Amino acid sequence: MNDFKVRGDWMPFCVPDITDAEVQAVSDTVRSGWWAKGPRTIEFEKRFAEYVGAKYCVGVNSCTAALHLALLSQSIGPGDEVITTPLTFASSANTIVHVGATPVFADIDPDTGLIDPREIEKKITDRTRAVVPVHYAGLAADIGEIGRLCDRYGLFLSEDAAHAVETRYNGELIGHHPKGAVSYSFYATKNLACGEGGALVTDDEEIYRKACILSCHGMSAGSWNRYGKSGSWRYDIEEPGFKYNMFDIQAALANVQLSRMDDMQRRRFEAVAVYEQAFRDVPQLRVQKTPAYCHHSRHLYILRIVPEALTISRDQFIEELKARNVGVSVHFIALHTMSAYAKRYGYKPEDFPKAYAFSESEISLPMYSTLGVEKAQYVADAVLDVVKKFKK
Ligand SMILES: Cc1ncc(COP(=O)(O)O)c(C=O)c1O
Repeated sequence: MNDFKVRGDWMPFCVPDITDAEVQAVSDTVRSGWWAKGPRTIEFEKRFAEYVGAKYCVGVNSCTAALHLALLSQSIGPGDEVITTPLTFASSANTIVHVGATPVFADIDPDTGLIDPREIEKKITDRTRAVVPVHYAGLAADIGEIGRLCDRYGLFLSEDAAHAVETRYNGELIGHHPKGAVSYSFYATKNLACGEGGALVTDDEEIYRKACILSCHGMSAGSWNRYGKSGSWRYDIEEPGFKYNMFDIQAALANVQLSRMDDMQRRRFEAVAVYEQAFRDVPQLRVQKTPAYCHHSRHLYILRIVPEALTISRDQFIEELKARNVGVSVHFIALHTMSAYAKRYGYKPEDFPKAYAFSESEISLPMYSTLGVEKAQYVADAVLDVVKKFKK
C-alpha cells in the first residue's frame, strides 16, 4: 500500500444507473401526452405488488408520503406514541410528528444498526399505537420478532423499507405478506430509482383504499382517469387528502428499473465482494454483520471505524477520504441529536448510547450498481491507506 496513488477525478458517493431503456421510456411517456398519474403508474403498482408478493401497492411521490399515509390509515394522532429507531432518516419520525403523535425512540443492535426488538418492548406503554422499524441500509429488521410484539400488544406495524427493495427476511422479500404497511423509496440513490418516488404495499384492502384516496387529495378512487374517455368528470372528496400520488414520468423510469433489478443487484454484489475482502481482519474497522435470517440488499455499504484504534476522528477520516477523491456519506446522524428532536423532546446524545456511538463512527462508502470492481478496489485501497497512516 506504500504506492497508493490518488486518482485525478472525484468519485461520487452515488450515481444513478441509466441506460437507453430509461431514456426511451421517459421520452415515450412525454410524447404519449399523458404525463400525470395514468396507465404507467397503474402498471407499476401492479408489477411492484406482484414483485414483492403483496396484494396491493399504491405508487406515491416518496417514501415519506407512504410512511405518512400508513399512519393516517390507522387514524394515529395526538395522544398516541409510535416507536421507531434513532438511527434513521428524518422521515421515519417526522411523519409521526406530522400526524400529531409522539415519536419514541428505541435503541439499536450495534452489530447491525437495526432497531432492537428488546428495546422496542421496553418502550411500549398504553399509549403506543404503532412501531416503525427501519430496514437499515438494506438489512431486514427482525420483523418476525417485531411482528410478534405488535400482535401481543395490539400495535400497527409500519415498515420503513426505504432501503429494502430486494431485502429478504427468511428467504422472502420484505413486503411479502406484510402484516401492516410497507413503505419504499425510489429516490435517486436507491436500488430502484426514479428520481423521487415511493410506494406503499399492503395486504389489507382497507389500508389500500385509504392510502389511494388520501394520496390524491381525498378524491374518490379512479379519479385520475377523469379526463379519459372511459373516466368520469364527477368525483367526490371523501376526506381532505394530500397530493402524494406517483405520476407517469416517474413510473416510466420505475418500470424499467424494476425490469433491470437482477442485473443491477448482481453488479452491486461484485463491488461488495471487493469491500468485504479488503476489510476482513482490519482491527481498525468494523463491517456490518448480517443476521442469519436476512438477505442484505446492499443499498448502503456501512463501515465503522474503531475510534480507539486510530489517531484521527471519524470526521477527519472522512476528510482524508475526500483528499483521496472519494465521496462518502454518513447514515445517519442520529435523529435524537438533531436540533428539532433534541429541543422538542429534550433528548441528549447518551439517551440512545448504541445509536449514538454507531452514528459517530460510521462512514458509508460508495455503493451503486455502476461502481464496478476497479473503482470499488480504489475506494478500498483509499480506506486502507488512511488506516495505515493513522493507526495507533
Ligand atoms: C430510512 C429512510 N426512510 C425514509 C426515507 C425517505 O425516503 P423519500 O426520500 O423517498 O421520502 C429515507 C430517505 O432516504 C430513508 O433513508
